[in-house]
Amino acid sequence: MTVLKLTQITDLHIGPIPDFTCRHLKTYKSLQSVLTAIKRDGRGDDRLLITGDIASDGQPEAYQQVDQLLSAEAKQALWLAGNHDSMDRMRKHLKNFPFTPVFEVNNWAIIMLDSSMPGQPGGLISKTEMQQLEQHLANLSDKNILVAMHHSPIAVNSHWVDEHRIANHQQLYTLLASHGKVRAVVNGHIHQQHEANWGGIAVYSAPSTCFQFEPRSVKFSLGHQSPAYRWIDLHPNGHIETGVRFLASNTANA
Ligand SMILES: [Fe+2]
Repeated sequence: MTVLKLTQITDLHIGPIPDFTCRHLKTYKSLQSVLTAIKRDGRGDDRLLITGDIASDGQPEAYQQVDQLLSAEAKQALWLAGNHDSMDRMRKHLKNFPFTPVFEVNNWAIIMLDSSMPGQPGGLISKTEMQQLEQHLANLSDKNILVAMHHSPIAVNSHWVDEHRIANHQQLYTLLASHGKVRAVVNGHIHQQHEANWGGIAVYSAPSTCFQFEPRSVKFSLGHQSPAYRWIDLHPNGHIETGVRFLASNTANA
């Protein structure tokens, strides 16, 4: 069996037009720069794992731009919704990338979990979503599992960011831990690199493809780090190798 190679990109914050600027950055141009770096780094054939906030405000045009850009590069992609997204519009306008709730390859399965609440910045796993997760885990009892979601299930030592932590994280942990082979959670939303051990489950977050938040800040604070992506190698024995690569410089300043 071969290694399953993924590249996580997150919090794209694409606007209604390619020149859209958010937090002093042209987000579409920044995404293009990250995709170029992924290719240059030899990971252009990876399956993308897009962990939400594709749009800055759920605009159809944002999803259409991403759909066209990723299609033109012949990408394969898994995605889920963040707090700035609209699941209905994503399903409609990411037309070349049908939503895939569970992706299975050999002895690995990737589950895409929706942690967003309409109109709220914070995270919650709804009762329906939790029940579906429980069913997926039961159906995938022999697989190594990676669960992707937008919000962080853990605190990252940044007060204002930690207020967005998945509210029912304890219930989520109990369910994930009961499976026995949930190897990792991968999330976005916090616009910074973070790695932790959540009671035996690794939790990895990636920085945004555009602007970052300053780690360990009490109040909202933008970081100075470049756009970035996370590479993830899922080995047949259940082992995970992963790391974050930042762009050498930020070329998308408005
Ligand atoms: Fe977010």
